[in-house]
Order: sequence, then C-alpha cells, then structure tokens
Amino acid sequence: MPRRTLRKLDPSLDLSQHYRDIEQLPRPFEPAALFRCVQPLEVEVGSGKGLFLASAARCNPEHNFLGIEVSLKYARYAAAKLARQAGENAVLIRGDALLLFREWFSDATVAAVHVYFPDPWWKKRHKKRRVLNEQFLRDAERTLLTGGSLHFWTDVEEYYRSTLELIAATVNLTGPIAVAEKPPEHDLDYRTHFERRTRKNAEPVYRAEFRKT
Ligand SMILES: C[S@@+](CC[C@H](N)C(=O)[O-])C[C@H]1O[C@@H](n2cnc3c(N)ncnc32)[C@H](O)[C@@H]1O
Repeated sequence: MPRRTLRKLDPSLDLSQHYRDIEQLPRPFEPAALFRCVQPLEVEVGSGKGLFLASAARCNPEHNFLGIEVSLKYARYAAAKLARQAGENAVLIRGDALLLFREWFSDATVAAVHVYFPDPWWKKRHKKRRVLNEQFLRDAERTLLTGGSLHFWTDVEEYYRSTLELIAATVNLTGPIAVAEKPPEHDLDYRTHFERRTRKNAEPVYRAEFRKT
C-alpha cells in the first residue's frame, strides 16, 4: 500500500522528551534513562505515524511504551504526536528494531512486543529483509518476561501464515491466541493507521497473539 506524504511538523514543538536516536541509548538499555517511572515496558516495532504508541500510552499510564522506527521522518512524526500528548510514558527511538532487540535489551525485560503491519517485502529475494525473521523471534522470546506477549497483525495472508509457521518452528511461545476484531467507536479507533486503511478498504486483517509461558 503506498504511503501518503506526511504533514509538516511544527518546528517549535519540543521533541526532547519523546525522541531519541538509538545511538543515544545506554547499552544495555536502562529504562530509568528515558522514563520517570520504571514500570512494565512495551515495545512497538515499526511505529509508522505513531497511532498505536500514542493511544496505548494514553490508555495505560501504568506501563511504559517504546516505539522503534527506522525512517527518520516517520520517527519524528510519531515523536511529535507523543510530544503534543505530553505524557511521560512513551518515547520514540529512531533506529533498527532488530539491532535494538539484539544489542540493547537484556533477557526478560520486556512485557510486550507489538509488530503491526510490518513491511511485507513481497519479492522472494527480498523476504530475508522481513523484521519477523528467525533471529528477531529468538530475541523477542529471550527479552520477553514470563507472561509477556507478542502481538502480530498484518494484512498480508502469506506473511501471516509463514510467520506463524516460523514461530512454531523457532521459539517456544504459546499461541496463536485469537484476537477479535472490534468495531471502531470513532474515526481513529484502530490499532494503527495501517489497520484503519485496511479496514476502510474492507480488506481482511490477520491478528495473532503469543505468550511466553
Ligand atoms: C507498513 S509500515 C506500518 C506502520 C505502522 N505499524 C502501522 O501499522 O500503521 C512499517 C513500518 O516499519 C518501519 N520499519 C521497517 N523495518 C524496520 C526496522 N528494522 N526497524 C524499525 N522500523 C522498521 C517502516 O519504516 C515503516 O514505518
């Protein structure tokens, strides 16, 4: 699905509390370096415009939320959304999610991993670029706390089915647990912008949740 041009950001908006480059993070990752309260950490891979991060952080003030987005312009756009919301429990990191999990996160430190509508990389020779690859799944399993969850939604049936097979073959997570579709209560009542566009086009969304037990 092609992406529309992003709106220009207000240059006077202060992003300093809601945006970091991955290289600015302490290694290993230390939540106290970013968040006022140390509380369960949820991480979203590929935050795009930041709808999930902003609404999840607003509705769950007792959790911290970290979004990781590789595109600078989307990372800044999502961080601006968080800055306007002015909460203290969500930060957007500009960088590669695979590296963040591989090199920054310690074992059993993450309460939930969210991957919504990851780039499908359709061509056979490009499929190795998918974020839901074997190494990432092993890192997600390693970094999740016991009882923690992995959430994966996509509009690409082949990506969905092959990822479920890869999860079953690679890691020891319980699932897939069925996730029901909710009717939206307002125009932005969707998990992410891609979910909104997919459902407005009356196309199916494939959803799975896994638990580390
Ligand atoms: C198809 S978009 C979906 C955005 C959002 N999750 C949604 O559902 O609206 C996928 C996003 O993942 C980002 N992305 C791709 N590979 C990534 C990586 N290795 N680390 C972080 N972000 C990545 C892309 O830049 C893009 O913004």
